Amino acid sequence: MTTIEQILDLARWAPSGDNTQVWRFEIVAPDHVAVHCHDTRDHVVYDLDGHPSQVAVGAMLETMAIAASAHGLRADAVRRAGSPDTHPVFDVRFTPDPAIAPSALLPVITTRSVQRRPLSTRPLTAQEKQALEAAVGPAHQVQWIEGFGGRWAAARLMFNNAKLRLTMPEAYEVHRSIIDWGKTHSPDKVPDQALGVDNGTLALMKWAMVSWERVNTMNTLMGTWAPRLQMDLLPGIACAAHFVIRAKAAPAGIDDYVAAGRATQRFWLTLAALGLHMQPEMTPLIFGRYVRNALRFTRLDKLQDSARRLYGQLTGVIGAAPETAVFMGRLGAGKAPKARSLRKPLAELMK
Ligand SMILES: Cc1cc2nc3c(=O)[nH]c(=O)nc-3n(C[C@H](O)[C@H](O)[C@H](O)COP(=O)(O)O)c2cc1C
Repeated sequence: MTTIEQILDLARWAPSGDNTQVWRFEIVAPDHVAVHCHDTRDHVVYDLDGHPSQVAVGAMLETMAIAASAHGLRADAVRRAGSPDTHPVFDVRFTPDPAIAPSALLPVITTRSVQRRPLSTRPLTAQEKQALEAAVGPAHQVQWIEGFGGRWAAARLMFNNAKLRLTMPEAYEVHRSIIDWGKTHSPDKVPDQALGVDNGTLALMKWAMVSWERVNTMNTLMGTWAPRLQMDLLPGIACAAHFVIRAKAAPAGIDDYVAAGRATQRFWLTLAALGLHMQPEMTPLIFGRYVRNALRFTRLDKLQDSARRLYGQLTGVIGAAPETAVFMGRLGAGKAPKARSLRKPLAELMK
């Protein structure tokens, strides 16, 4: 493998919403890669204005820069003028720079992953918090939601929010297409074993998710409490803390979301290097933005009302200026997941 291929082979391990890997690489010259990105806003209810995809692109560009540090290279990424926000192109140029030392985050690029299951309630140490607060850099800051009261409030928010997700036909369409059933590893989806629910519940989910009518029937007969308890309420309490990464100025466009993604990936890799684990909790922020901007996200009116109530609950949990929140999740010490998403091979990601 050439140096540039080695860098790309690590960059592809960046996280993306539902493991969509919204990037394709083109090697233009030995020191120049064009990254062709896209978002999924036209068919994924969670990808509002493409912002979550843009956060993922930021995470990938940051991973590329960290990977380049192994070779003493600086990676400068510039968004190509005229490329549309839905299909942005980034030109990344690699330059030898004596000031660049191999990053301490290199070893965890491939091991960092989501952990959706319960974690230890051991509080974060002052040193851990300090390292994580430094990781996001000067344009972002970290808000901690800690203690039993804080975790309980965030867990309840996630529990209520999950009801919205599980009863929304538009979200069902997404879940149906991204879950890889009966798998512990998946190259381009999320394996069901990584969802954090027991096999009995998984079997019911798999049966129901054949059609929206079945989902509706199961929701009516059994409610949605079993997956919500396992995926949201219990792990929401069983963690060290929930966190919010906030931009110091509310993000206004694609470049700000890409910057937020870079900060988030430094945070995520840093917690992995500390031996901690993390689970994103993005959907309250996303539905909050739908509400704030008075945008419709579902054909079911009653869910629009639920989202409005949830927005009130979100601001109760994270406080003022929710528009500056760019990433939210929970974290803590604990076991690494046995099941996880993998990535498409590099050859498939080459343009
Ligand atoms: C911007 C962004 C938003 C995400 N939102 C969620 C989320 O709300 N819920 C969730 O379970 N995972 C979420 N994820 C995690 C992805 O599903 C996960 O990163 C992807 O499947 C790859 O798995 P890995 O991180 O374990 O490698 C998000 C990831 C990114 C980058």
